[in-house]
Amino acid sequence: MLRKLFVKTWGCQMNVYDSARMADVLAPLGYAQTARVEEADMVILNTCHIREKATEKVFSELGRLRAVKDARRRNGAGDTVIAVAGCVAQAEGEEILARAPYVDMVFGPQAYHDLPDMVARLARSRNAPIVNTEFPVEAKFDRLPEEASSQGVSAFLTIQEGCDKFCTFCVVPYTRGAEFSRPAAQVLAEARRLAAGGAREITLLGQNVNAYHGEAPDGGAWDLARLLYGLAEIDGITRLRYTTSHPSDMSDSLIAAHRDVPELMPFLHLPVQSGSDTVLAAMNRRHRADDYRRVVARLRAARPDIAVSSDFIVGFPGETDADFAATLRLVTEIGFAQAYSFKYSPRPGTPAAGHDAQVPDDVRATRLEALQQLLNAQQHAFNRQQEGRALPVLFDRKGKQPGQLQGRSPYMQAVNAAGPERLIGATVMVRIAAGHANSLAGTVVTDDHGSPKSHPAPSLAASAHSGTAA
Ligand code: 5AD
Ligand code: SF4
Repeated sequence: MLRKLFVKTWGCQMNVYDSARMADVLAPLGYAQTARVEEADMVILNTCHIREKATEKVFSELGRLRAVKDARRRNGAGDTVIAVAGCVAQAEGEEILARAPYVDMVFGPQAYHDLPDMVARLARSRNAPIVNTEFPVEAKFDRLPEEASSQGVSAFLTIQEGCDKFCTFCVVPYTRGAEFSRPAAQVLAEARRLAAGGAREITLLGQNVNAYHGEAPDGGAWDLARLLYGLAEIDGITRLRYTTSHPSDMSDSLIAAHRDVPELMPFLHLPVQSGSDTVLAAMNRRHRADDYRRVVARLRAARPDIAVSSDFIVGFPGETDADFAATLRLVTEIGFAQAYSFKYSPRPGTPAAGHDAQVPDDVRATRLEALQQLLNAQQHAFNRQQEGRALPVLFDRKGKQPGQLQGRSPYMQAVNAAGPERLIGATVMVRIAAGHANSLAGTVVTDDHGSPKSHPAPSLAASAHSGTAA
């Protein structure tokens, strides 16, 4: 029987990846995806627990879904299975059922391969909701099926999951569990399939992706640098990226890969969180501000044009005006191409949430505004610096205007240019005419990048590309 599946995703790129894998798992059971929630037999909310705001969105969405479920039942359209997946499910488990008893399934990120089993169990016992928030011993990746669908030109590939760092503000070690690296052979095989399906760019995902240490194809272990060399050899792959990294895992070999692997793009998202050593220590970040400055200097020595992006938290418990000034100083010194910044949000169960020196919300808001002003100005300046340059752009979708294409510069900037659809999937030189606050605009110089690894554009529909911090 053909059934309809609606998936809504919040949070990081790993959730985007996971949502696609859940759809893959459900496809053999007859579930086809729909963009219309009213016709869905099953709704999966893939949730994010990183900040309070993200968590609250889930509950307001559940309120709306209850009305959809009731209306479908009244209209004789049948039942709607409501499932809450992801990090809120993992963290809150049974509490979700207490707040929203019409939910049918609650399961964490380590249970996705169990979906067919959970669906069967639910069908057998219609009124008993299912909660599955175990961290199973067997690796879920061994039991997930191969991807059923192409991700398009720019694809994500999870290589590492979980985190053992325990920054005192962060829920990830509790929701995603202990650090786990997929075996290199499995990653290479998935990358080959993605390339065969039309992927030209692969972004490797992990909460602590640069701590990757997967089983090597010939025994032993590969670090991220070794894996990147292996992936760069795959025919069709012209661009590699990885996110998110921890400053203390930027090893010499990885920095050397930025110098030696042409496919590795000169852009790195490297969260620093704060520029104050006192705050960094209280956050249990395991590095000082100067260590971060040194890592960036080494990266720039290896790859002079590398653009750096970061994450910041303002108003961490105990943060003083002087601590915040140290953050602004670090930002001014480094010069970021792009960044995400957040007000500290106390998360239940994390050590910092119980701290008595919480910073008042108005102070957090004022600091966030000041930081964002500085970061936005840096981003705009970086975009303006590209004016007049010709940049290789990988087009991955149609643009908003007719006849327009959208792609990415090596530095992750969105680039709009007029061009024929056949260029989707090709890397093309674009002369940048304008550097706006959030994107670049330019004109195609030539359709042939001329590099030995330049590939003809596959005939593909545009892919979705969601850009959030992991
Ligand atoms: N409050 C605010 N921001 C947070 N982040 C993680 N936990 C919190 C929190 N409790 C931010 C960090 C991280 C990014 C993904 O989210 O900056 O790097
Ligand atoms: Fe791990 Fe990153 Fe969270 Fe720190 S901020 S605990 S490194 S996921």
